[in-house]
Amino acid sequence: MNNDVILKVDGLKTYFNTDDGIVKAVDGVSFELKKGETLGLVGESGSGKSVSNLSIMKLIPSPPGKIMAGTAIIDGKEDIFTMTEAQIRELRGNRIAMIFQDPMTSLNPFLRISTQMIETLVLHQNMSKKEALVKSIDMLELVGIPHPDKRVHDYPHQFSGGMRQRVMIAMALSCDPEILIADEPTSALDVTIQAQILELIQSLSKRLGTAVIMITHDLDVVAGMCDTVIVMYAGRIVEKGTNDEIFDDPKHPYTRGLIKSVPRLDRPAAGRLFSIEGQPPNVIDLPACCPFHPRCGEVMAKCKNITPGVTKLENGREVRCFLYEGDK
Ligand SMILES: Nc1ncnc2c1ncn2[C@@H]1O[C@H](COP(=O)(O)OP(=O)(O)O)[C@@H](O)[C@H]1O
Ligand SMILES: [Mg+2]
Repeated sequence: MNNDVILKVDGLKTYFNTDDGIVKAVDGVSFELKKGETLGLVGESGSGKSVSNLSIMKLIPSPPGKIMAGTAIIDGKEDIFTMTEAQIRELRGNRIAMIFQDPMTSLNPFLRISTQMIETLVLHQNMSKKEALVKSIDMLELVGIPHPDKRVHDYPHQFSGGMRQRVMIAMALSCDPEILIADEPTSALDVTIQAQILELIQSLSKRLGTAVIMITHDLDVVAGMCDTVIVMYAGRIVEKGTNDEIFDDPKHPYTRGLIKSVPRLDRPAAGRLFSIEGQPPNVIDLPACCPFHPRCGEVMAKCKNITPGVTKLENGREVRCFLYEGDK
């Protein structure tokens, strides 16, 4: 394997057993994350973005969930899915960190930030408490918290939403992970703060060499920020390309729809924004077909009864759509 690749996910399938049937939340997802790159994972709510990444962290509740197939090789060596519990704990603490929309899911409201940060550093980095406090203050400074030597002793609720998100980023990056998974990290913040947080993640990842998986339902968030963009629909990847390829020349009708629905600051507003008609399909008992066909303006007869495979285009670009079948 190319040793620039820090994570290689191949054929991941994660299903949930529910009263209504089997939810095929992730159904054959494959991608590579290169060292230090930022990979955008976009798609409407329910497309399988979070489940893909929770699978990689082995955080799928089981039952009802189960990883049915696939491998996730980290740094060209071990498969995460066959690791022992002890290896997984070390992976989560040290090698892959995750941040979420709501920082309170990772912060304990009853403990001072110092207590929480020190505990992680003592456990995973073998630091003394004193060293860990110094490191915690350094990290808070790095993420732009004013007076970090005082604020480190505050409780989570004493920070504003944006500042709390910064604290979570400081905690996530304190053990120097190789990968940061950011799952809709700014969806709850107002637009100005959102831009600041995205810029912070971007500049820290460049500075520290951390690879980032940026998950969002909002294409606007990843525009210009990512090296590679993956578009998910109904548990599958429907398009993959570089940032410029996806934004300048989107191939899949779904990606084109998503891009048309993003407001552009560099163009005059053309009245109401475009939105893709219809709803994503139910991923229980999905018959063979392109799951996007009921919403697609370019639907053909075969889209309704054959599932399109992946067509590989130039430069490693990929699209799952019959329009490009002959373009290999
Ligand atoms: N614990 C669960 N039990 C049953 N279904 C689930 C569970 N978690 C997620 N799902 C289903 O998996 C699919 C993908 O969810 P998710 O990955 O959270 O979507 P996204 O992050 O793209 O919004 C959805 O249909 C969702 O309802
Ligand atoms: Mg999600």
